[in-house]
Amino acid sequence: MVGFSLHKLHDSLGAEVRGLDLSEPMDSGTRDDLVQAWTDHLILLFRGQELTPETQRAFCEQFGPLGGRLRKADQRPEGQDADNIMLVTNVRKNGVPIGSLPDGEMFFHHDKCYAAEPDWGTMLYAMEVTRVGGHTLFANMYDAWETLPDDLKAKIDGRKVLHIYKYLPTERVDLKDGIDKYDHRWQPMVITHPKSGRRALYVNELMSAMIEGYDEDESSEIINALNAHVKSAGIIYDHKWRRGDLMMWDNWCTMHARTDFPRDQTRMLRRYTVMGQELSA
Ligand SMILES: [Fe+2]
Repeated sequence: MVGFSLHKLHDSLGAEVRGLDLSEPMDSGTRDDLVQAWTDHLILLFRGQELTPETQRAFCEQFGPLGGRLRKADQRPEGQDADNIMLVTNVRKNGVPIGSLPDGEMFFHHDKCYAAEPDWGTMLYAMEVTRVGGHTLFANMYDAWETLPDDLKAKIDGRKVLHIYKYLPTERVDLKDGIDKYDHRWQPMVITHPKSGRRALYVNELMSAMIEGYDEDESSEIINALNAHVKSAGIIYDHKWRRGDLMMWDNWCTMHARTDFPRDQTRMLRRYTVMGQELSA
């Protein structure tokens, strides 16, 4: 028997899960049912949760080992969770952000697509939210691939794309600038999801910089066309955060973006990720 109910968030992806308190230990049957729901709906929302770092971490660990953080030594917070936890916030202490990705808009991206083993899941918990803006947009990348015009499919199928992250929210790496100083990785443009076996487009606006077999201008043209397709295909769910929301998303078959928000409103979310694996075409 499934111990929770599911309520669709959007025609293309997403479900709200009702009936679970994530701060409580979970039995393996419920966990397995959640994995099935996650596989079916791609992103799962739990409202009204009260989570400490410890209980959020324990929930996340139900799905596998935690994903690690790449960050400079001087940005490491103290404590046992320093390698895993991320505060996504514009809160500042002495003018310096206490977390990561503080302000404004962020382009569409897949978390850690520039790593050898991109994270499977991200669990983001809202502790303080803005009155306006700061939404997260989620796109269904199975649908992105399936609805792509045949000519675009033919241009990219079987090719690889170079993902690079410059740690800026709305700026891609300029290839002339050199890529070695940034985390980067060639990945299949269309991956086969390790759990569902379905094919998903694996290209995004922020981090995809170059396509195998094309020059820079051709690459940009194709990447721009893919991004334009995703934005016009009716496959994006727009999430307006409430305090107490926990959203878990699958980074292999969805990508996400953040909308702009006023600098003078506080936004504070806590993130853990579930470790992933190498992805293949
Ligand atoms: Fe992200």
